[in-house]
Amino acid sequence: PVLVVDFGAQYAQLIARRVREARVYSEIVPSTTPVAEMLAKKPKAIILSGGPSSVYEEGAPRLDDARALFEAGIPVFGMCYGFQLMATTLGGTVDNTGAREYGRTAMRVSKAGSTLFEGTPVEQSVWMSHGDACSAAPEGFAVTASTDLVPVAAFENDEKKLYGVQYHPEVMHSTHGQLVLEHFLYRGAGIEPSWTTGNVIEEQVEAIRAQVGTKRAICGLSGGVDSAVAAALVQKAIGSQLTCVYVDHGLMRKGETEQVEKDFVAATGVQLKVVDAQERFLSALAGVSDPETKRKIIGREFIRVFEQAQAEIVAEGAADGEDVAFLVQGTLYPDIVESGGGTGTANIKSHHNVGGLPEDLEFELVEPLRQLFKDEVRMVGQELGLPAEIVQRQPFPGPGLGIRIVGEVTQERLELLREADAIAREELTAAGLDAEIWQCPVVLLADVRSVGVQGDGRTYGHPIVLRPVSSEDAMTADWTRMPYDVLARISTRITNEVRDVNRVVLDVTSKPPGTIEWE
Ligand code: XMP
Repeated sequence: PVLVVDFGAQYAQLIARRVREARVYSEIVPSTTPVAEMLAKKPKAIILSGGPSSVYEEGAPRLDDARALFEAGIPVFGMCYGFQLMATTLGGTVDNTGAREYGRTAMRVSKAGSTLFEGTPVEQSVWMSHGDACSAAPEGFAVTASTDLVPVAAFENDEKKLYGVQYHPEVMHSTHGQLVLEHFLYRGAGIEPSWTTGNVIEEQVEAIRAQVGTKRAICGLSGGVDSAVAAALVQKAIGSQLTCVYVDHGLMRKGETEQVEKDFVAATGVQLKVVDAQERFLSALAGVSDPETKRKIIGREFIRVFEQAQAEIVAEGAADGEDVAFLVQGTLYPDIVESGGGTGTANIKSHHNVGGLPEDLEFELVEPLRQLFKDEVRMVGQELGLPAEIVQRQPFPGPGLGIRIVGEVTQERLELLREADAIAREELTAAGLDAEIWQCPVVLLADVRSVGVQGDGRTYGHPIVLRPVSSEDAMTADWTRMPYDVLARISTRITNEVRDVNRVVLDVTSKPPGTIEWE
């Protein structure tokens, strides 16, 4: 494998994903892994990630034997923090100059024909995020790029196959980042690209079989892409040992329950159990407006329903003596990061299937997609033969409309939001915008009222927010510049057709600073 050494924050997963994009197999190891253990894996190459620390900081993550890693004859690529670690270990100079660069930075390539920068322009835009700067490369290294503030923004020692860049080639904003990474893998390390999403399926099928054995599992199916792909993958691994459970929590959009029953079962032939839990969720949510509390309640109630389903499956005798011990979830990597589960990351919001799980969870979790990003999950789904209607669906959060009503969730408000959402979806589809828009949450500001005039009278109603966003993986997003005439049609229809709504507003915030959902 190619090893990606994780020095913290969100970078390592993104690097691993870019390596997969280059069709090379990679594994992430924490930086606390002894170097001898890393080398024992016989890696074809090693990538050192960035991280939030300065190399000079007390407690900054270090390798137990960095020198051994650089002298093992294995190609190494250091990025940001990894670059500085390479520089300091091998005798270069890194100073705390106070010269900070954050965000988009202009970089000049100073060595045409370098291994990493071959075929990229002299002037390029890269994504920086650092306080320290390398002022002298180690002996034997050629300086290959610089910026206004940083004399050594990249270096390489082709003979020893050691490469480093101060910036983050893995982020989208570094214009030639993917090419630079591929140059390292193909030219620097001599690796042939051969890895595919088919490999993910094989690996996961094997891992699921090893984990579940002859026991039974249930899979919470939400109608979304992630749980559908997870279910199909697990079904491939353990077949009839799996039962899918669809919880109708009453927070679904119009037509959603019927669609799951029809499309998913038709596509996979999976055993499906539908549980009507509308009252249960509504009464648990009564009187609650705080977003995190709502998320935790929904996460907990999901599990309680799964437990009940488990008991029923056992009682029905479907379980040939084996208890249902496993719960399959379509958790993705971004869900884990945002719920504060990455290394050293903050809790932004508790995704219902991660931070929203109750503490007394009795199931063992099976999460075959937890290393992947959404677009990769879509590729896996396609490879598994799921139809486009499922695989290309826009994301919809597990807690559903419950986190799209700002304020308390009530039956009446849900009905109102369901109508508004159905109109928006209908018009977006009619305008052919489904593929272009990542997703378009429709949000009801239930605690806000404004004055309007409808017919000949005054109204005092609620606003509906349209939140169309474009994104690659939901980690960052921008608001979609949608045609005005489509916005106008949605606005007219919602205010005409949905009672108690007298205003439609457009959310023009990117992520960050906003998140995609309002709660
Ligand atoms: P945010 O609002 O964090 O959303 O920018 C990022 C993506 O995740 C979806 N989302 C969720 N999905 N359970 C889910 O299954 C959740 O609790 C949850 N919260 C947000 C959101 O729709 C967007 O695609």
